[in-house]
Amino acid sequence: MPVAEREAMIPARPYFYRLSPPTGHHELAWLEFRALTGDRADETAPSGEPTGVERLAWARVGVDVQRAAYITECCRLLAEAEDLEGLLRAAEKLHLRRERFRIRVRKSGRLDAPATQEIERRVADTITGRPDLSRPAVELVALGRPEGWLLGELVSRSERGWLGHEQRPRQYSSALPPRIARAMVNLVAVPGDTIIDLCCGVGTVLGEAASLGIQAVGIDHNPTVVEHARTNLCHHGWSAPVAAADGRDVRGRFDGAVLDLPYGVSSPRVDRVCHALVERALQVARLVAVVTTEDMRELMEGFGAEMIGVAALTKGNLTRRVHWAHGMLSET
Ligand SMILES: C[S@@+](CC[C@H](N)C(=O)[O-])C[C@H]1O[C@@H](n2cnc3c(N)ncnc32)[C@H](O)[C@@H]1O
Repeated sequence: MPVAEREAMIPARPYFYRLSPPTGHHELAWLEFRALTGDRADETAPSGEPTGVERLAWARVGVDVQRAAYITECCRLLAEAEDLEGLLRAAEKLHLRRERFRIRVRKSGRLDAPATQEIERRVADTITGRPDLSRPAVELVALGRPEGWLLGELVSRSERGWLGHEQRPRQYSSALPPRIARAMVNLVAVPGDTIIDLCCGVGTVLGEAASLGIQAVGIDHNPTVVEHARTNLCHHGWSAPVAAADGRDVRGRFDGAVLDLPYGVSSPRVDRVCHALVERALQVARLVAVVTTEDMRELMEGFGAEMIGVAALTKGNLTRRVHWAHGMLSET
């Protein structure tokens, strides 16, 4: 059968994920994809910096992406072709039967509403069963890209719950954007886990964790900031214990640790404190995510961490790195 228009023949990675990282975030989006899908195969990483173009990543498994910060949809591949006509022919051959289905068309580049509806109608014509546009039981996604067209069945879609979390009474110039905080939480925990943020600031990570059903504990050595974290959590109806303390003194065992290190002040004393915080995070958790302007790979490996990945996060002239590693409590 020509590759140009084939029914999907159960490829090694039959699930496709649509990723929508803003400029400068694509490496973190990829780490999040690996965390959610458990896919460790670096060779499938989309390459290059996206410029507003959606990206596609493939995995062996289809997982729930509701909690994702950067993945928008997960679909199971049904058919693929080089162009739309080929896809329609491949879809015909599948003899799909679906009740209460809806078709969604996603296409890179511009497509006006009548053209979208026309494609939806033509894809729908290949399916036996009743469409239901308002409360569908099944959604099929026709995805058009310069490389070709895909037809997939939706497995799950993200909720974009982080949108709106920036609205809070207490702001902080060094606070993480909620989307980055959410991705970092996803690197180290799943719902039901407990995590610690050793430098919690005004509570961005704590809030994202709480909103995902992850218990979080926050520590910051600045009592004013701790008060602000409590105010922000309360504002959104989230609860998380927050204490004014030195993160270097943290004890206990956690599923994950997140560490957003202070930046902008560089001195041997601050560096020593930061390094000690990293070491402590690694000692108390199974999985650790550290964000900082420095490249901390060597330091973390020197503390015995097994690195899983590093993502550069760029904004203007500022580059920060998210370091993702197994901590000392990891069983792997
Ligand atoms: C980059 S900010 C964290 C911002 C936080 N992620 C947020 O979104 O609000 C770094 C924080 O580390 C705290 N900090 C610095 N040294 C600390 C230490 N030894 N123990 C605990 N917190 C510390 C600072 O007070 C500051 O709030």
